[in-house]
Parts: sequence; structure tokens; C-alpha cells
Amino acid sequence: MTNRFDLSNVRSEFPITKRMLYLDSAHQTPLATSVRAALRNFYSEGHDMAGPKPVWLKRAEQTRQHVAKFLNALPSEIAFTKNTSEGLNIAANAVPLSAGDNVLMIEGDHPNNAYAWLNLKRKGVEVRFIKLTAEVATAATFAPHVDARTKVISLSHVTFHAGHRHDIASIGELCKQRGIYLVVDAMQSVGVIPVDVKKLGISVLAAGTHKGLLVPQGLGIMYVKSGLDELQPAYLAMSGLANPPADYIARTEDLELRKDAGRFEIGNLNLPDLHALSAAIDLIGGVGVAKIEEHVLSLGDRLIGHLDELGIRLVGPRTRQHRTHIYVLDLPVDEWVDYLARNQVRVSPERDGIRISFAMFNTLEDVDQVAEIIRRGLSAKRTPVAAQAG
Ligand SMILES: Cc1ncc(COP(=O)(O)O)c(C=O)c1O
Repeated sequence: MTNRFDLSNVRSEFPITKRMLYLDSAHQTPLATSVRAALRNFYSEGHDMAGPKPVWLKRAEQTRQHVAKFLNALPSEIAFTKNTSEGLNIAANAVPLSAGDNVLMIEGDHPNNAYAWLNLKRKGVEVRFIKLTAEVATAATFAPHVDARTKVISLSHVTFHAGHRHDIASIGELCKQRGIYLVVDAMQSVGVIPVDVKKLGISVLAAGTHKGLLVPQGLGIMYVKSGLDELQPAYLAMSGLANPPADYIARTEDLELRKDAGRFEIGNLNLPDLHALSAAIDLIGGVGVAKIEEHVLSLGDRLIGHLDELGIRLVGPRTRQHRTHIYVLDLPVDEWVDYLARNQVRVSPERDGIRISFAMFNTLEDVDQVAEIIRRGLSAKRTPVAAQAG
């Protein structure tokens, strides 16, 4: 059952749905009309009145509250960044690590996560890549690799390359028992499935906002669990200080940092995108993220049914609780991306096949249509003179 919210209303927010079969939200969100309106308002205010900036900053703080609520965090646990990579790099440089310590990761996870930690090799920190042998990663995946020098486990909540939805809660429990920081890249999960940082036992979460959170590139969110005061920022601007000098003259004596996650923010924020994020969270909240999750899973159920009929292997997990909105089809990338583009279907080439990804605006009819287009493509390949595009 998928129509538990008003899909036609949602689709009207995304006019792209009238022009093509958009199955690529794990790559790039199409801009929603209400999010574009928020950006337009911001630019008009800048154009007509140059702000006023205090009003913009007040709204940014309201957006921080929205984000906090969305993640079941406190506003003081939220920092704004540029993107996922920045959040992960902030985490990698904030955790107290010394030569001989190790960080556990899943082999093949997003390179922007891996490189943040691999960059610590020059300090003698070891990154251990663990092969995924189960359908998704759980505590059991990591437990045999934990030793006295394991300080961090860092992984994606949902993988971009095959749609694994790792069991973060069990990994969080392991981290709690063993005194390990759990750092999570939530780029592919936030806005699509509920993310409760407390239930999941996350120490630091990083995500960009240009996928499930429906905002153009350039804004990231970061959760830093309160009480982790030993996490220190590698960079410092006035905004990170507990007592910023009212006269704007930096002095050597008072360098006390803010206690909240704001200590990781550096200078001015991406105010236009923060306005967009507020509108996006309203849109997502209006539908309900649990409903979005159920919706994309139902679309996945339908797609898997078609794939089975067509004899196409799904690269990632089939089990409902192990997947979300990302489905990779074991088809040769070069031929199929072109073929689908010629048929007005937008998907992504991925390392193991063609990636279809769903969003709140996709429908069961979208799934049936893409399956039909694929079926035609397959029969054209079997009988070479038969139809190509359209
Ligand atoms: C899991 C994951 N992490 C990170 C990124 C991108 O990192 P950034 O937001 O720094 O560009 C992506 C995709 O763009 C992703 O799918």
C-alpha cells in the first residue's frame, strides 16, 4: 500500500515529473516549487533590502531547531557545514586519535568518508576496511575486528552504490559497550527514512542536504552528541568562541570554545540554503518521513517483482528492512544509461549496474513504466532489428 499521502499534491511540487521519469534522487534532488519559492524570497529580500541579516540569522536558528527535531537531537547538537565530506573531515580531525589507533570502515563505502580517515595515515592512524559478507553491516560485522586501539567506526547509514541499509542501532550498541565513537554518513538516509540519532547511538552524524533533504548543493548538517567535549575543532573562527569579543578584537587570553556543536562552525553560514532547508523540512514533515520510507519501500517491492519477472539480478539487499529507496540493477552500464536516457528516464550509472532511486514523488506507475521500457530494451537486444528508443 503506497498512497497513504496525497501523491498528486506532492507531484505538483515537482514539475519534473511531467517531463521525464525521474528515478535519480539518490544523485540529485529536483528542486521542489516551495523550496524554490523560499530561495526566491531570500534573494528578493537581499535584492530589495539587503537582509536584514539579523532576521536571516534568526531564521537560521529556527532551521537549526527544525533539523534537531527531525533527528531527535537538541538544537545545541546541530552544526551547519558545507556538505557531508566537511562534516566527516571535521569529525576525523576532532576525535582524539594518536599513532597506532585504528578506525573501522566497510570496504567500498563512499570515498568521501574513507578519505577523511585515510588522511590520518600521516599521523599513524590505521584505517581497516572490512569486507561486507552479510546482506548489511551489523555489530557482528565489526566485533571481530575491534581491539584495544579501535577508536572509531565510520560508515554510511544507506550506501549510495547498492542501497544497503546498515544496522546502525546494533553497531551503536557495540560502540557504546566498547567505548568507540560511531560516525555516520547519513547523506542517503536523512529525509528518506527516519533517523533518530539517540536510538541509533550515533556520536557524530554528517550529511549534505541535496538529496533527501531537497536543497541545492552547498549546505550540510552535522550532529555532535552533547557531552563529547573532548572533540575539538581543527579550525577556529570567532563563531566558535564561548565569549566572542564584542569589539571584534582578537586577544590571546580567552580562547574558550563554545560547548555546543556550533564550535565546529566557521564564519558565515549558507543563509540561502538554510532558508531552502526550512521549506524542505516543512514539505517533508507535511508528508511524514515514516510515510516516505513506506512509500519508497513499496515502490521497491514493485520493482523487485518486475526484476524477477525480467530475470534481472538486484545487486543490493532484497530484504525489506535492509533497503530503502536505492536499487541497483545488474545491467551493463554503458548500453543501459544511454538507452534509458533516450526514453526520458533519468537514472545513474553505478559501479555494479544501473541505479534506480525513488523519492516521495514517484509512483507505482513510474515503476511499471520503467520496467516496461527495460522489457522492450531486453527484447530489442534478443532480436537486434527490433525497436530501439521509444
Ligand atoms: C553516502 C554519500 N556520502 C557522501 C556523498 C557526497 O559527499 P558530499 O556531500 O561531501 O559531496 C554522497 C553522494 O553524493 C553519498 O551518497
